[in-house]
Amino acid sequence: MKFLRDIPKDLLRGRAIVRIDLNSSDNWRLLCAGKTLKFLSQNAKAVLIISHTGRPNTNNPADFKKFSLKSRAGDISKLLRKEVVFLKDISEAERQFKNCESKKVFLLENLRFDSGEEKNDKVLAGKLALLGNYYVNEAFAVSHRANASVSAITKFIPSFAGFNFEDEINNLSKAIANPKKPLVVILGGGKSADKVGIIKFLKNKAKWFLLGGASANTLLQLSGVDMKDSLREKDPKILAQMKPLLKLKSILLPFDCKIDKREVLDIGELTAKEYAIKIGEAGTIIWAGPLGLFEKKKFAGGSLIVAKAIAKNKKSFSIVGGGETVEFLRKNKMDKYFDFVSTGGGAMLEFLAGNKLPGIEALNKNGKTN
Ligand code: 3PG
Repeated sequence: MKFLRDIPKDLLRGRAIVRIDLNSSDNWRLLCAGKTLKFLSQNAKAVLIISHTGRPNTNNPADFKKFSLKSRAGDISKLLRKEVVFLKDISEAERQFKNCESKKVFLLENLRFDSGEEKNDKVLAGKLALLGNYYVNEAFAVSHRANASVSAITKFIPSFAGFNFEDEINNLSKAIANPKKPLVVILGGGKSADKVGIIKFLKNKAKWFLLGGASANTLLQLSGVDMKDSLREKDPKILAQMKPLLKLKSILLPFDCKIDKREVLDIGELTAKEYAIKIGEAGTIIWAGPLGLFEKKKFAGGSLIVAKAIAKNKKSFSIVGGGETVEFLRKNKMDKYFDFVSTGGGAMLEFLAGNKLPGIEALNKNGKTN
């Protein structure tokens, strides 16, 4: 893999295409790409920023407005303190960006408006690549998707990993390659399926998996507890993958909880305190997914106790990821207590589960330097 810090000077001065991830309600992911964007805007001839947001349905005309990136040009402009020109499509980019000699920054419309993006279409990737002289992936958060702007594009032009992308790989690798013992993994959030891989991969390394949210509800239901209307996995295939996890002694499930009507919406205080003890003894901590419905103060208590325990354990190496978890921590001004905050949700979990990410594979295979 080639890194942006090693890019040959002559190439750096050419036209840069940089993939970022604007798929979040706040500007946090954009801020993480800030160092790369500033570096490129100061050194490249011109910069074309490309991204997706949401999952637009291209058969629904209303989605073209709903998921437009137009309003994000202002956010980027504020960050870079310079004008950012919005381009409505690739033809517009061909006219404006390809001929630009004046260090301008451009933002292209949502890539997912072209169905080729999610199909990893070579034609789309080739058209994008032809616009510039080199490509930078600063979108770790979408690098678990084999998309044209993440994967296929690297076949056409010299390709590099951005500064934050490099940090992601270094820090996440540190957490799984040789974790300072004991390793404690906290898994919550609304999805169960994406937690199975990481549990299987780390089952011989982690001392404890502390569960909350949908994955805890699912395992409790599988163990015979009636979870009533609580959010949980229903897909029989995934349930079959999850059932064997019940045998793992390292998995701790909530033994008290906060309920609203027929739904479990947070882990209980006794469970949270038990989790805090395990966290206090940890050498490495990985956290993905809030333990309750933190948007409602009543159900934020479990996540807060866990976050405070992590903050208190100063000797540990701690990483956290996932849109909601980071949103929760930022809301409570607690993100600063983590050694590393990953921009990735699904991408972080895939990486920590030992899976190959298409975005990383593409840079490894195809990142030519000239
Ligand atoms: C994310 O937010 O996890 C990435 O941007 C990927 O989005 P997706 O799940 O819609 O592909």
